[in-house]
Amino acid sequence: MAEQVNVLVVGEGGREFAIAKKLQASSHVKQVYCAPGNVGMPTVGVQPVDIAETDFAGLIRFAKEHNVAWTFVGPEDCLVDGIVDDFRAAGLKAFGPTARAAQLEGSKDYALNFMNNYHVPTARHASYRDQTAAIAGVDQFGFPVVIKENGLAGGKGVVIAKDRETAVQTIKEMFDRGQARLVLEECLVGQEYSMFVLLSNGHYRILPMAQDHKRAYDGDKGPNTGGMGSYSPLPQLTASDLQRIIDQVVVPTVNGLVAGEYHYHGILYIGLIMTAAGPKVIEYNVRLGDPETQVILPRLKTDLFELVNRALNDEPLPEVVVDEQASFGVVLASKGYPQKPVHGQALGQLPVVDGIQIDYANVAGSLDELKGNGGRLLMVETVAPTLQAAHDAVYDYLDQLNEPECFYRKDIGAKAGLN
Ligand code: AMP
Ligand code: GLY
Repeated sequence: MAEQVNVLVVGEGGREFAIAKKLQASSHVKQVYCAPGNVGMPTVGVQPVDIAETDFAGLIRFAKEHNVAWTFVGPEDCLVDGIVDDFRAAGLKAFGPTARAAQLEGSKDYALNFMNNYHVPTARHASYRDQTAAIAGVDQFGFPVVIKENGLAGGKGVVIAKDRETAVQTIKEMFDRGQARLVLEECLVGQEYSMFVLLSNGHYRILPMAQDHKRAYDGDKGPNTGGMGSYSPLPQLTASDLQRIIDQVVVPTVNGLVAGEYHYHGILYIGLIMTAAGPKVIEYNVRLGDPETQVILPRLKTDLFELVNRALNDEPLPEVVVDEQASFGVVLASKGYPQKPVHGQALGQLPVVDGIQIDYANVAGSLDELKGNGGRLLMVETVAPTLQAAHDAVYDYLDQLNEPECFYRKDIGAKAGLN
């Protein structure tokens, strides 16, 4: 076998934990570093590095000093801020889109223009630069109407307003908060799915799909969050609907990226709703999803290092082989998340149970004395022969925890018929 190499992952959340864990398990990899990483990462052999994800110069220096073969960028804000461009300028390889391509996530307006140009189906929409015009536009969409801030908001800049009064108030609040632009959209009805496409310029592979749960509380109640739980595969998605997604969404999107000369080497996350009239894209993200990554990567049998390495080197991509087994995970979040998460609560030592994996995210302290660090703390995840078995194992684990300063959703997977 060829010599083993070092790789660097940028980010600190559960997504980066899962990426780094998967890469560390590859026979091609000697050491995965993760900057800044989190205190849970050594549990899977990954070495956290104390460099902020915004310190591009520091990351570049580290990658050079540690002979890193390439860098996998987890979070969107670094991509939007041009981390990949900076690495390239320094002669280094980084997996992720350039700042130009990252606008597909960084600006809703930009993404909608792209979809319009390349005939990718999406919700009926309009974009506004001032309050009066936006308020006047509301009635074209009926109710509920979806109101989105134009820029990055960590999945939290979207309000589904059930009536005119709420819509008007939301629009005022968003502009008052300093938003220069917002988007109104018709509210789509149907199941929401996350699709992940690994791109090497015009060549691509589709990774396992997952369903996220964006709202904070059971029954899709409460505010939008980064995501509260996830599972893969999707038994409710028929083979013919999957084919429609590929034909109507993936193919025109990839063609558009080629035609627009984006030279995209990274992951494109397509958030979509399967409506009665076919699949419609609600957003592009330019990176893997959190918490979807934590459930899709365990099902990936193809070596992740090899996929990324070949994509970055413009070599033919291997086929993606997926484990038939099911993967299921639930996020343990800090009480008060997403509005006012508690910080610093002692989590104690988490029980070790065979087959149950803890993907750490916002934790601090030490592994013996873990503390919550706000937001989504960790994900409890497992792989089992059926989704129901995976679901039951994860909830058996969570139900025996005693973490009064935390909460989790009890209905992850309900839309796949799990209970
Ligand atoms: P986004 O930040 O665009 O992902 O939106 C956050 C969440 O709002 C999505 O995950 C959906 O659940 C919901 N959403 C966004 N756009 C629409 C839409 N046009 N129709 C219905 N729900 C939507
Ligand atoms: N789980 C949704 C996201 O990563 O944007």
